[in-house]
Amino acid sequence: MDVQKFCADFAARFPASQRNRPTRRYAWRLKVKAKAFHVQYHFFDPLRDVAGMISVKKQRLLHVAYAHLNASEAYLEIGSWQGKSLIAALRGNPARPTFACDNFSEWRRTKGQAVHPREALMNNLQRYGLAQHVTFYDESF
Ligand SMILES: C[S@@+](CC[C@H](N)C(=O)[O-])C[C@H]1O[C@@H](n2cnc3c(N)ncnc32)[C@H](O)[C@@H]1O
Repeated sequence: MDVQKFCADFAARFPASQRNRPTRRYAWRLKVKAKAFHVQYHFFDPLRDVAGMISVKKQRLLHVAYAHLNASEAYLEIGSWQGKSLIAALRGNPARPTFACDNFSEWRRTKGQAVHPREALMNNLQRYGLAQHVTFYDESF
């Protein structure tokens, strides 16, 4: 990865003046009830059909970082759960060797969800056409 290029791209996409502030659309979260915030957050989530814990900003950050990987480099994620951060990083980027692991020791199942997160992860990767690009290890790091 050309770190200087990545830093320049990062600075362009996430200007310093905004970096430590919630984006305008989140700012009013402070004024609304948690449920309304959740609805609005969900609205702006580019992967709203994938359950996960990663914020919209972090999804964008990982996506940019992945985009700057050279063809000879690989990507490793520890703790994929249902794949939201993994999909955010890979989706729309040239595929690089990608490795991920999770021992599913935490947050076994989302409320009301019928399948184990491992199955949800595989379904989500499949749905986004990324399953063949990820080598997944169901084990501890
Ligand atoms: C915060 S969640 C990951 C969220 C996920 N990246 C997303 O985008 O929603 C952390 C994950 O790390 C996993 N984990 C915790 N300790 C681990 C370990 N030692 N090895 C592998 N996975 C681990 C947990 O099972 C959990 O699924």
